[in-house]
Amino acid sequence: MFARFSTVAGGAGSVDLPRDVRGFAVKFYTQEGTFDLVGNNIPVFFIQDAIKFPDLVHAVKMEPDRGYPQAASAHDTFWDFVSLMPESWHMILWVMSDRAIPRSLRMMEGFGVHTFRLVNAEGVSTFVKFHWRPRIGSASVLWDEAVKISGADPDFHRRDLFQAIERGDFPEWELSIQAFDQATADSFPFDVLDPTKLIPEERVPLQPIGKMVLNRNPDNFFAETEQVAFHPGHIVPGIDFSDDPLLQGRLFSYTDTQLSRLGGPNFHQLPINRPRCPMHNFQRDALMQMEVPGSRVNYEPNSLDPASPRENTSAGFATHPVTQSGDKLRVRSETFMDHYSQARLFYRSMTVPEQDHIVSAFAFELGKVETPEVRCRVLGHIKNVDAGLCDRVEQALGMQGQVDSIPPAVEPIDMQPSPALSLLAKAQPTLEGRKIGVLVSEGCELSIVDQLQASAEAEGAVLELIGPHIGAVGSNSHIAIKPHHAIAGAPSVFFDAVVVAVSAEGAEALKQQAAALNFIHDAFAHLKIIGFTAASMPLLDRAGIDIDDGVVEMETSQDMAAYIEAAKNGRFWPRAATIKA
Ligand code: HEM
Repeated sequence: MFARFSTVAGGAGSVDLPRDVRGFAVKFYTQEGTFDLVGNNIPVFFIQDAIKFPDLVHAVKMEPDRGYPQAASAHDTFWDFVSLMPESWHMILWVMSDRAIPRSLRMMEGFGVHTFRLVNAEGVSTFVKFHWRPRIGSASVLWDEAVKISGADPDFHRRDLFQAIERGDFPEWELSIQAFDQATADSFPFDVLDPTKLIPEERVPLQPIGKMVLNRNPDNFFAETEQVAFHPGHIVPGIDFSDDPLLQGRLFSYTDTQLSRLGGPNFHQLPINRPRCPMHNFQRDALMQMEVPGSRVNYEPNSLDPASPRENTSAGFATHPVTQSGDKLRVRSETFMDHYSQARLFYRSMTVPEQDHIVSAFAFELGKVETPEVRCRVLGHIKNVDAGLCDRVEQALGMQGQVDSIPPAVEPIDMQPSPALSLLAKAQPTLEGRKIGVLVSEGCELSIVDQLQASAEAEGAVLELIGPHIGAVGSNSHIAIKPHHAIAGAPSVFFDAVVVAVSAEGAEALKQQAAALNFIHDAFAHLKIIGFTAASMPLLDRAGIDIDDGVVEMETSQDMAAYIEAAKNGRFWPRAATIKA
């Protein structure tokens, strides 16, 4: 396997943590050729007709007359476009949710989006949708964290993935399918060929079929990660396309782009793109040709070279036959016209914190849109999704009563909420693959650090020490402690939970350092579980945080265990009532 994760809006070198959909592209080097599952971390897409893809991408990317913004959708052209494209509204709700700001590439789900076919040896076809689920569970950052992480470490996700694989903490995903037949498809109030729609798991459960483990980093980023060419058209016998019009458009577009991005038609010969099985064809010559095939024959059928490759009608790929009737017209199907019911389903399936984050995201994004008419139109769509959501966004924007009336093509329906859509509702308590940051100082208690190290390891977490500087600090038992980071370069947004384990004199010294005060204040505002030693209390006071059940004093091993249990639950959500990040 080879996997490439990507952002969409930003160019090469842009920050890793914008609010954006993430590409989740995977290559299976099978014995029957290469199968590419070119998905995203969101199961639906913005558009129904591939011909609008360039328009979508132009609208979200930097504005052509000014060269900014880089890697951000919070600008007029994007919101102008989607406010005139009702079909994009289900996707917009996903992009405004926590799904668009993942904590790590290792902690995000993946989706093939389109309906595909699996065809068995008897030629029986079953519709499928592909899903990737991370073994260590999904997690997101808060928007305020994303902003601060992008400033402090623009390469946050790449570094996280590279380091996890280097230390042997191999990211793993379970691959599952939702399998269904035509009758089931016909029973849905939406069209399975519409890429702006998903099939709720409660209607068609996931069936696990395999596991991907990423156990090696590329040897060379350019040669492998840059030059890789994914293509939804790369399928192998047993897998076939559906008539999803967006998928059909993609089957043209990827080659079209790769011909120029990779300098001609022979990029399949690059090591990263080369199939890992015998391959025979008569494609010849052209730019960057690396093969030196002998023989006077370069065509099939031929009689002049009996040893040359021949068509294989049994093992070769055959398109699944489909009986179709009716007019073939270049129009959008009526069955594609309900643009709000699933957007409403998504919003109403979210937990309270997740809904709050969607409101804040809309407020942030629309707060960056200069053109009031665009904002009023956007509010009109939000109203069609959910009137309560619209009220809250209106409020947050201070635009009460400025909502355009946008008649929906199809009146939205209330679907049964789908808890499977909520990351928080299905989150399991864990610290696996997470990071705990421990603030230490001269004279800090070595035993606390050692116990924390052992507890973190036992939970599959990484523990990193942050010192007043990168040089070693002397502990209370005169043994030197080597920090992984200096406080100036390691804000608490890098960590999933933190501990303040400084000595009394260390606390006095750090009370003068904004970086130390911000470390604690941000951890508190980001609802993180904070552990602290009694000697650190003056520093917490100076940082101005209140002691709640998410702020745990650590004197005994019971305290340590209580801290770890609390940290496994992720954030201390009740604190959100008292502080807004
Ligand atoms: C379901 C909707 C879509 C998904 C899940 C999706 C996914 C992706 C991903 C993951 C990549 C990056 C691949 C890599 O890492 O190299 C990508 C690139 C690209 N996508 Fe899509 N995409 C979608 C829709 C479209 C549509 C509708 C078009 C055009 C008709 C399109 C055209 C492209 C092109 C041209 C590239 C660049 C390929 C390259 O440079 O190698 N995509 N897409």
